[in-house]
Amino acid sequence: MTPADLDAADPLAHCGTRFWLPAGKIYLDGNSLGALPAATPARLRLVAEEQWGADLIGSWNAHGWIDWPKRVAAKLAPIVGAEPDELIIADSTSVCLFKALGAALALEPERRTIVARTAEFPTDLYVAEGLARLLPGVGLRSVDGPLHEQKLDGTVAAVLASHVDYRSGERVDLVRLNEAAHAAGALSVIDLSHSAGAIAVVLNGSGCDLAVGCGYKFLNGGPGAPAFLYVARHLQERLRSPIQGWMGHARPFDFAADYAPAPGIDRFLSGTPSILALAALECGLDTFDGVAIEDVEAKGRRLAEVFIAEVTARTGIDLGWQADRGRRGSHVVVPHPQGYAVMQALIARGVIGDFRPPDLMRFGFAPLYNSFADVVAAAEALGEILASGEWNQPRFLTRQKVT
Ligand SMILES: Cc1ncc(COP(=O)(O)O)c(C=O)c1O
Repeated sequence: MTPADLDAADPLAHCGTRFWLPAGKIYLDGNSLGALPAATPARLRLVAEEQWGADLIGSWNAHGWIDWPKRVAAKLAPIVGAEPDELIIADSTSVCLFKALGAALALEPERRTIVARTAEFPTDLYVAEGLARLLPGVGLRSVDGPLHEQKLDGTVAAVLASHVDYRSGERVDLVRLNEAAHAAGALSVIDLSHSAGAIAVVLNGSGCDLAVGCGYKFLNGGPGAPAFLYVARHLQERLRSPIQGWMGHARPFDFAADYAPAPGIDRFLSGTPSILALAALECGLDTFDGVAIEDVEAKGRRLAEVFIAEVTARTGIDLGWQADRGRRGSHVVVPHPQGYAVMQALIARGVIGDFRPPDLMRFGFAPLYNSFADVVAAAEALGEILASGEWNQPRFLTRQKVT
């Protein structure tokens, strides 16, 4: 089948118009910053002018702003396989992770260890290490190899893992991971940043205890969008947030001197919600309207398959285990010793991916707006750049601060 045939048969092709994408560019970095939903600019203007501008502070009641962290979370629930009352939108992923790990550590004082992979996303390790510095006796054990194969014992409070690895794109089996954590009496804390909105996550069905994730990647919430925090319902009354703010109080507007955690997921809120950012994230979540997350995942797999086949045929680069669709998330990495420069040359041609040291070019597939024509054109550009040596120019070789 040609890319045009694949696009013609794509049941999600109509979702492309839900986004604003610049002409002439192929955007394969939605795993880092999702594209702008077409509805976002007008919605931000409306919330700013008609709510904040016209109704001022009365908007907290008139427009229900106070409930937005939960109202918007309810739209995320089917995407990550959770119940609406198990999710809130708040803070950044790093801060949500601090809350999740801190709550897990406070549950059973004799459990003092967080176990995570050495290759975990750095912020996850930094947050865990920060907690270890703060709390007497707590330590981070970073390990190599699959977490479910580690020796976990009665000292472990939390097993921390990304569902999809930010660098390699490899996906962990959540059921196995949760079983291993639970067998040791520990809680699982899962970072869904690279799977929420791309993979059919089943938080409840796989037995996850706590989870966090970014709002600005496949959820299209905009740069620095608030994150989400999931706490399995059966744990909520037993856990407390280590950031006790007034928004997590049972009666915030009593202004009481003593803290009393709100019932349920609300206790994990801390401060005043970021309303404009929530409005943008809601537009991002609305891009999933009427679409089953299983169909999103299926298209992502197919896009990656086509890309892998084209790259292999055009460059001869072996993409190894990535051919195994069950092991992948929704991005593919292409190793090359000059990967940074090659990616800059691709970007100069309008094909936007990114680079992760030491040598990986990342290509993310956002099934709502990427087409089969996109991935074939990207592979074609990559093949040409490698064959011509076009990447070998000073302007492509110098690293930028942010990539
Ligand atoms: C797996 C993972 N966790 C966390 C983050 C960052 O979280 P934050 O929203 O706190 O910047 C990223 C950012 O790329 C990520 O890839």
